[in-house]
Amino acid sequence: MAQILQPTPKNLDLLAGHLSRGDLVAIPTETVYGLAGNALDPEAVAKIYAAKGRPSRNPLIVHIRNQDQLDEIADASETARHLISWLWPGPLTVILPKKLVVPDSVTAGLNTVAVRMPSHRVFKDLASRCTFPLAAPSANPFGYVSPTRAEHVQAHLGESIDWILDGGPCEAGIESTIVSLADPNQPILLRHGSISIAQLESILGRSVQEAIREPEDRDEGLRSPGLMKRHYSPHTPVRLFEGAPPQASQEEAVVFLDGKHRAGENHFGLSSSGDLEEVARNLYDCLQNLDHEGFQKIYLEQPDTSGIGLAIRDRMKRAASQD
Ligand code: TXA
Ligand code: MG
Repeated sequence: MAQILQPTPKNLDLLAGHLSRGDLVAIPTETVYGLAGNALDPEAVAKIYAAKGRPSRNPLIVHIRNQDQLDEIADASETARHLISWLWPGPLTVILPKKLVVPDSVTAGLNTVAVRMPSHRVFKDLASRCTFPLAAPSANPFGYVSPTRAEHVQAHLGESIDWILDGGPCEAGIESTIVSLADPNQPILLRHGSISIAQLESILGRSVQEAIREPEDRDEGLRSPGLMKRHYSPHTPVRLFEGAPPQASQEEAVVFLDGKHRAGENHFGLSSSGDLEEVARNLYDCLQNLDHEGFQKIYLEQPDTSGIGLAIRDRMKRAASQD
């Protein structure tokens, strides 16, 4: 079992010490919890892949705390600097040409690196005690739902790691938006998140192409190697619905976007009013709870595609994907 520690100055010093010696710590961010290790230490990076059971061809995001760390690991164009001046710290990951100091294992041999500056206060307090950036994938076993609470990390990864830093429930609740600026003249969206394509386009002043791989998409040419169809899935089979709720038995859970349809023990709501930010915040927590309750199936109501609805639908489709 891992130890869950509160973010006191003493505990933060202790965990920064573990990280500097090459150990792993699960950390809170505003999106989901990450499994962090020293991004510049290949041995720490190898431990991350091993603990998650993650294929080595699936590269990691490097989490930084300031501009100096960005310049240490990546070549940021003027376009990239402009974008991040608006959106960092926050739930945006940018793909940039990498510098040599970044181990090949972090980037799975690619010549680009994924970089993000989280805004979570506890992340900042820990990162400010470290002299190195932190490589961190979501702190879930490979393919399972991402964790939005320290207890989720404990439940699924607690046997593989020693330390979890508790920063409370994550505010955004789904993973960061990923945009590639490997070629600054051709921005490409690799993953939907709470920062929308419209926001990116208005800051960049140009259109952003989507390279999102739909779960039902049969094309094998992956631009972002982590975007496989089955991902973020609970063990319980998930089915999606829109409009009229399905005829479900008592052994099957029906999850609505808001609370107003609740009519039975097996009915759940992702928010009180249907507010999509609240839906995103609660989605993974709900899936993990229902997974533990032993329902035979989970029916999930999908939001429409406005704003963050796109990112939520993407995660729901992946949770429901059967291969
Ligand atoms: O919100 C988040 O992004 C969370 C928190 C912990 O920061 N992290 C996260 O990491 O979701 P992970 O490892 O679960 O997803 C990272 C995604 C993967 O799909 C990976 O393939 C992609 O980023 N990625 C990483 N480096 C890349 C690169 N150089 N080029 C293209 N895609 C890359
Ligand atoms: Mg992940």
